[in-house]
Amino acid sequence: MPKIPNLTRRTFLRSGTAIYALGSLGGLPAFGATGFGHKNPLAIPPLDLGQIKDGTREFGLELQNGISKFFAGYDTPTKGINGAYLGPVLRMRRGEMVRLNVTNNLGHDSTLHWHGFNLPASADGGPHQVIAPGDTWSPSFEIRERAATMWFHSHLMGETAAQVWAGLAGMVIIDDDVVDALDLPSQYGVDDIPLVLQDRRFRRDGTMPYKSSMHDRMAGMQGDYSLLNGTISPYLEVSTEKVRLRLLNGSNASIYNLAFRDSRAFQLIGTDGGLLSAPVELIGLRLAPGERAEIVVDFSDGAPALLESISSGRGMGGEQSPAFDLLEFRPQATLAPSPDIPAQLADLPIPDASTAIRTRHFLLEMPGMGMGMMRGGGFTINGKEMDMGRVDLVVKRGEAEIWEIENAGPMAHPFHVHNTQFRILDKAGRPPAPAEAGLKDTVLVEPGDVARILIRFDHYTDPDRPYMYHCHILEHEDAGMMGQFTVV
Ligand code: C2O
Ligand code: CU
Ligand code: CU
Repeated sequence: MPKIPNLTRRTFLRSGTAIYALGSLGGLPAFGATGFGHKNPLAIPPLDLGQIKDGTREFGLELQNGISKFFAGYDTPTKGINGAYLGPVLRMRRGEMVRLNVTNNLGHDSTLHWHGFNLPASADGGPHQVIAPGDTWSPSFEIRERAATMWFHSHLMGETAAQVWAGLAGMVIIDDDVVDALDLPSQYGVDDIPLVLQDRRFRRDGTMPYKSSMHDRMAGMQGDYSLLNGTISPYLEVSTEKVRLRLLNGSNASIYNLAFRDSRAFQLIGTDGGLLSAPVELIGLRLAPGERAEIVVDFSDGAPALLESISSGRGMGGEQSPAFDLLEFRPQATLAPSPDIPAQLADLPIPDASTAIRTRHFLLEMPGMGMGMMRGGGFTINGKEMDMGRVDLVVKRGEAEIWEIENAGPMAHPFHVHNTQFRILDKAGRPPAPAEAGLKDTVLVEPGDVARILIRFDHYTDPDRPYMYHCHILEHEDAGMMGQFTVV
C-alpha cells in the first residue's frame, strides 16, 4: 500500500536540484549524480564499542576540527567526533552503565546531547551542559532504552544549527535480548547499514560555511547535495539478499520522503525508540529531522536500486522536502541468503490515553516575513521564545500526560522531547499510521494540524536542571522554538 501522502513525482525537480547546483558551483565536479552511476563507495562509520572499566562501558570522544574530502581535490573544513566529519557509531546494551568522556578540542564552546535516551538531566548534554574549550565532560548513565537506533549531536544554545551543519553528530546502536533473539540482518557494515542522511550547500571552492540568509533562517538551512555518512553520490555493494538500513535524518531542516526509484516495497521494523510490534510494508517513508527508522530491503532480484528523496512540492518559498538521489545499491552476482523477517517483533502495549492525568497544549508559531524575522527570532511555543533562565513546565515523575502539539503553520515542524520515548495518540484527529505507532521521541506535525502524544517521564528527577522540548528544524530551535521542563 502506498503510504506517502501528497507526493508528486516531479522528474524535473528530482534531477534538477543537483544539475542546477553545478551551474552555480562552477569548479566542483559533477558529483550530484542523478539516476544510477554514483561515484563513491558509501563510508561506513567506524563502530565504537568503548571499553569496559569496572563494569561501566566507557567511550572516549574528542570534538575536533578537521578537513574533509567530499570532492576529490577540494578541502572542506568540517567538525567531527574522533574524526573530521560526524562521529563513530557507538554501540551499547540495555541495562549496562555507560560513561562518555567528551573532550572539547574545537577551540570554542560546544555540548553533546544524547538524543532519544532516558537519562539524568545533568547527563543530557543540552544547552546547560556546556563543554568549554579544553575541558572534558564525563556523563554516566544506565541504558534504559530498548534496542534502537539513537544519536548524539551538539546542542549549544543558539549554535546548534551551525555546529551540526559542520558535522558534530553521530549514531548510537542499542542492543537488547529481544533484538538478539530475532533473526534480523545484523552484521554491521554488511547487511546492517548505518545511514546518516544530510544535505549541505557548498561554495565553488568546496567549503560549506554556515551562512544563513533570512530565507534559510525561516525555512531552515538546506543543501544542494545530499551526504550519506558524509559521502557525496554514494553507492553500496550488496552481498546479501536482505539489507537492514538504520536511517537517521541528521539534516538541519529537510524532511526526506524516502522511496526507491523502482517503487519496491520495504519492511519498516523500527522507529525512534525501537522495534515495532510487527513489520509494516511500505513503499515510502517520510523522515523528519531527528527521526530514525529501521527498514529491511530485499535485493534478491539482483537488480540495482536507487534510494531517493522525493519532493513534496510545497514549503516556504522552497521545498521542505527536497529531491535527491540518495544511495545506489549494487547487488553482487551471488547474494548470501537472508532469513525471512519475523512476523512479530517487540511487545508494545497499546497506549492507553485514560492513564493521562492532564493535558498540556503547545502552540508552535513562526514569524511572518516582517519584524520578528528581521531581528532573527520570532519562533515561539505558546507565544514565548526559548529562555534558558525560564522553566516552562514542571512534570511529576511517573505521571502520564497528554501533550497536544498544534502547528499554526505554514511549515511542518518535527517536535522533539528529551528524556523519554512517547506514543502518538492521534494526528489531525486520526490514529497514527502503523509506521508511527511505535516508540517515538520526535513527532512531525503538519501545518494546521494537531498531534496528541501520550508522554511520561519514568526515571529521573532534578528540580533545578531542565530538559528541552523543541522543533528539530535546527534553525527554528535556535530562533526560539524551544522550551524547558523539569521532572520532580
Ligand atoms: Cu536531537 Cu534537543 O535534540
Ligand atoms: Cu533530544
Ligand atoms: Cu520548526
